[in-house]
Amino acid sequence: MIEIAILGYGVVGSGVAEICRMNRSVIQNRIGRYIHVKRILDIRDFPDDPFADRMTKDADLIFSDSAIQVVVETIGGAEIAYELTRRALQSGKHVVTSNKELVAAFGPELMLLAQENNVKYLFEASVGGGIPIIRPLSKCLAANVIEGIAGILNGTTNFILTRMEQDGIDFAGALTEAQSLGYAEQDPVADVDGIDACRKIAILASIATGQYIDSTLIYTEGIRNITSEDMAYAFRLGCKLKLIGRYQRLPDETCRLIVAPMFVPRDHPIAVADGVFNAILVDGNALGEALFYGQGAGRLPTASAVVADVIECALSTESISRSAPWRKSDRTLIRAHDACQVCALVRLDRSVSVDSIRETLKKTSIEWLESAAEGELAFVAGADGELTESDLELALSAWPGKVVNRIRLY
Ligand code: HSE
Repeated sequence: MIEIAILGYGVVGSGVAEICRMNRSVIQNRIGRYIHVKRILDIRDFPDDPFADRMTKDADLIFSDSAIQVVVETIGGAEIAYELTRRALQSGKHVVTSNKELVAAFGPELMLLAQENNVKYLFEASVGGGIPIIRPLSKCLAANVIEGIAGILNGTTNFILTRMEQDGIDFAGALTEAQSLGYAEQDPVADVDGIDACRKIAILASIATGQYIDSTLIYTEGIRNITSEDMAYAFRLGCKLKLIGRYQRLPDETCRLIVAPMFVPRDHPIAVADGVFNAILVDGNALGEALFYGQGAGRLPTASAVVADVIECALSTESISRSAPWRKSDRTLIRAHDACQVCALVRLDRSVSVDSIRETLKKTSIEWLESAAEGELAFVAGADGELTESDLELALSAWPGKVVNRIRLY
């Protein structure tokens, strides 16, 4: 038997308890031991819950219990979760988590603390929900230079964009649905403004480079201003509109990192992911491309990845994690966003003259599109690779109040 404690009995924490019970015998058959949930810490009461007899509000009961080997942190956020994770590691317990906010903010410190205490800090569920991606990237692809990672990394926004595209539902209605299905963060601002996807690509890029990538340095846009007209342009371009997190290793060994809505060709591998599904394309210099696809959010899918980490701890309690904590990154590792190339759909009020557009963007290509909305002009700029992000922003500033939207092409 392996005894665990769960900190935070919300969507994912309760899913972990359920999987441990539901799949007890299959886990026992596979690893020779079953997982027993000994304690659950939460400030709320759950009198009618099947695990009601293990609930506690006293964290010390967990940290002082030498029988508990693994602590599952599913509280979320980077405050209480940070303190409790530190205490768990210092008490000599392995910690597994789905908390990408905490990993993105304090990953190196917590990995180091785990190493100092001869235990593991594992976070497979922090990216891609139930999809195995952290372990494959850190271990199975360890022999590769990672040239690029591109992913649909947030289930909530992918669910919203898919509902808008396929069913004509508006943004607010689709968000409410995603929240009721347990996909969204407690504060869905992190989902819709791209912050959650940003933390996830920062974690993946940190693994790829071995250097800590500070998520706050990544250029990030969300999906708040996406409309049904943008969906119509996606159709015209033969694309789907997706929130993409992207890491690209550049020839000078710097990298480009961005999170933004992008038009992705419908036949691109990651465009298969609709609804709550995530897709992550990893490009290794030896392997080439590999696609990781599955449910990127939700109770049991995410809990499945957490329990897999518990099992990893159970299978190798003698040996600590051999993965080196991420080194502190040099700020110049990330290329300045302004200097990066871009290709984007631009939608302008029809009162802007075609001559003004041609003159302002004369250094790059312009491909006109049939307008999908009354009273506007639409074109794709930068398909020739001659446009930078700063060129584009400068051009758009020439038409104050006339820019309806601009969305990048993948
Ligand atoms: N809110 C997150 C998402 C949960 O929608 O992807 C999984 O990380």
